[in-house]
Amino acid sequence: MRILVTGVGGQLGHDCSIVLGDRGHDVLAPTHSELDICDPGAVDSYFDVNRPGVVIHCAAYTAVDKAEDETELCRKVNVDGTRNIAVNCARYDIPMVYISTDYVFNGSGDRPWEPDDATEPINAYGLSKRDGETEVLKNAKHFIVRISWVFGINGNNFIKTMRRLSETRDTVNVVDDQYGSPTYTKDLAELLADMIVTDRYGIYHAHNEGVCTWADVAEETFRDSGLGTKVNRITTDQYPMKAKRPMNSRMTTDLLVKNGFRRLPDWKDALARYISELDG
Ligand SMILES: NC(=O)c1ccc[n+]([C@@H]2O[C@H](COP(=O)([O-])OP(=O)(O)OC[C@H]3O[C@@H](n4cnc5c(N)ncnc54)[C@H](OP(=O)(O)O)[C@@H]3O)[C@@H](O)[C@H]2O)c1
Repeated sequence: MRILVTGVGGQLGHDCSIVLGDRGHDVLAPTHSELDICDPGAVDSYFDVNRPGVVIHCAAYTAVDKAEDETELCRKVNVDGTRNIAVNCARYDIPMVYISTDYVFNGSGDRPWEPDDATEPINAYGLSKRDGETEVLKNAKHFIVRISWVFGINGNNFIKTMRRLSETRDTVNVVDDQYGSPTYTKDLAELLADMIVTDRYGIYHAHNEGVCTWADVAEETFRDSGLGTKVNRITTDQYPMKAKRPMNSRMTTDLLVKNGFRRLPDWKDALARYISELDG
């Protein structure tokens, strides 16, 4: 299969291109400088010249706090850029995988979100990703895959930040009242590779199994890394940030199983493998 992966310079795109290549696919992996998804003419001609058979769209504006000030740029990438890709998928009648986020939900309550629950983003980034979903939904051949708390080798993430902080601090304050599940890009890339060879389209939730808080992730990171750094558990109110975060990011992954896909391994298992990858 000829697969276009956008965002290869980031965490998920990087691992997708490796996993798909290992499975023998013909992977088209343009970097941001090779293909700016915000340039409709460039996207049109990229499709005309390269003729992908499916697209995994990982490119995005992901700076959640900066998005509150750079809302226009964020929407240009996440809404207009996504539309440019979706329009071409429609033009060539090919499937599109769009990577979305737990931030499409408002974070109320403590029930895990179902894929068909009403969306109500509470920050500019979440709103842009939800509006990107709307563009993708115009095509019948869509996989919208909502993920959360992403970590991968190629880029910055919470786990790398914790390990860096541990170099200068004995104790780190970490928020302990937001609930969700981390997603290891290597595991997710395997799932996406399974999905694209099917026609089981729809809106999915996918992340490593198990629910935790950021403080739990930090503690496990220090343990797996053999570091003695302690975690001081604090509340969201004690750590003000520019963009509001959903308190409840639990999401059900039942649809994966119902539609014949495998759930991702437990988050602690994923984190241990990731720490080995970082240290390897
Ligand atoms: N990170 C998370 O915790 C998280 C959580 C839930 C969902 N997601 C979603 O998961 C997907 C993958 O996230 P990630 O963490 O792998 O993202 P990432 O590491 O920030 O990578 C995003 C990539 O998109 C590229 N990009 C930005 N603007 C572009 C443009 N106009 N044209 C082409 N490429 C462009 C970036 O290139 P430059 O760096 O050169 O700009 C970067 O390589 C995204 O859709 C994101 O919204 C992420």
